[in-house]
Amino acid sequence: MATDDTSLETFLRRIEEFEQDATPALRDAATPEELEAARIRFLGDRSGLLKSIQRELGSLAKEDKPAGGRAFNQVKTRVEALHEERGRALADASRGASSGRDLTMPPRRQWSGAKHPVTLVIEEIAEIFRELGFTIALGPQVETEWYNFGALNFPPDHPAMDAHDTLYLRDDILLRTHTSPVQIRTLQRFPPPIRILAPGDVFRRDFFDASHAPMFAQIEGLCVDEGISFVDLKTMLTNFARRFFGAARTRFRPSYFPFTEPSAEMDVECQLCKGAGCPVCKQTGWTEILGSGMVHPAVLESAGVDPEKYTGWAFGMGPARIALQRYDIPDIRILYDSDVRFLEQIARPAGGDA
Ligand code: DAH
Repeated sequence: MATDDTSLETFLRRIEEFEQDATPALRDAATPEELEAARIRFLGDRSGLLKSIQRELGSLAKEDKPAGGRAFNQVKTRVEALHEERGRALADASRGASSGRDLTMPPRRQWSGAKHPVTLVIEEIAEIFRELGFTIALGPQVETEWYNFGALNFPPDHPAMDAHDTLYLRDDILLRTHTSPVQIRTLQRFPPPIRILAPGDVFRRDFFDASHAPMFAQIEGLCVDEGISFVDLKTMLTNFARRFFGAARTRFRPSYFPFTEPSAEMDVECQLCKGAGCPVCKQTGWTEILGSGMVHPAVLESAGVDPEKYTGWAFGMGPARIALQRYDIPDIRILYDSDVRFLEQIARPAGGDA
């Protein structure tokens, strides 16, 4: 045995001291800089204390090497783990501190946006008509009296034009009372054939009650081409109702609108009582869902379309009313309340039943 061999005892004391010194230095490092200084001192690659102890391992007597190596590795593992652990803790703390967050606070609930029931209905209707070749057209919410009434064949003394029913901004400037002016604007810009769907908000001087609102959405439909007849109207709208409401029965009732002749309202079997009669359908078994008719020749003419060559049909419906039916909502005001507890129930599964 060579005389300059380090004794095992000395070696073991050395690593024990090493651990005793390194442990508090690493564990109590207050900043990343302090931790790094301690790392270099104890665990550094070149001049680190652990390295010099490792060199001493080489000068142990052969029979002492296994025991010395084992002790060395155990200490090395513990001290390195301590360094890593302190590094993570300091990084976490600095992330929390720099964002000004109190990491002990319980997290806030995450909200994700969802579509409003009326938007869901509009999108579903638009999708069905898209398959039938209809595109979306939009028009302004502030209209002239001519687009809103005159071009649509309202006689000058029609009661709808009364200031009690319409919100006028100036003499002949108003908030549109329906989406029908989009018919005129589209026909002026594009030659037939035309197939459009025009969703948008409309305004009336109505009180806010369970079934009325001063602002609500409408969807206008317009189809103008050569040889279009009432058969096209009935076929398209019946097909739509079947797609949208399932196998529900429909019926057409004669009606009157200045801009259509003849005019008809379409009813769908009440979704709630399946035609048996209930308070929602006022015991009739039917719900009115839209007004429609053949576009009046005077309307085509005011938009610059030759009524001798072209005919067309149109409809207007209120998606809010349809949403009430579909989602079994008793009061239209709920749709305007922005009460998330209610909206959440419907909006989450897009298009699904509540
Ligand atoms: N504009 C009508 C309203 O607001 C709805 C309407 C009825 C539109 C018949 C149409 C239609 O295009 O043909 O009450």
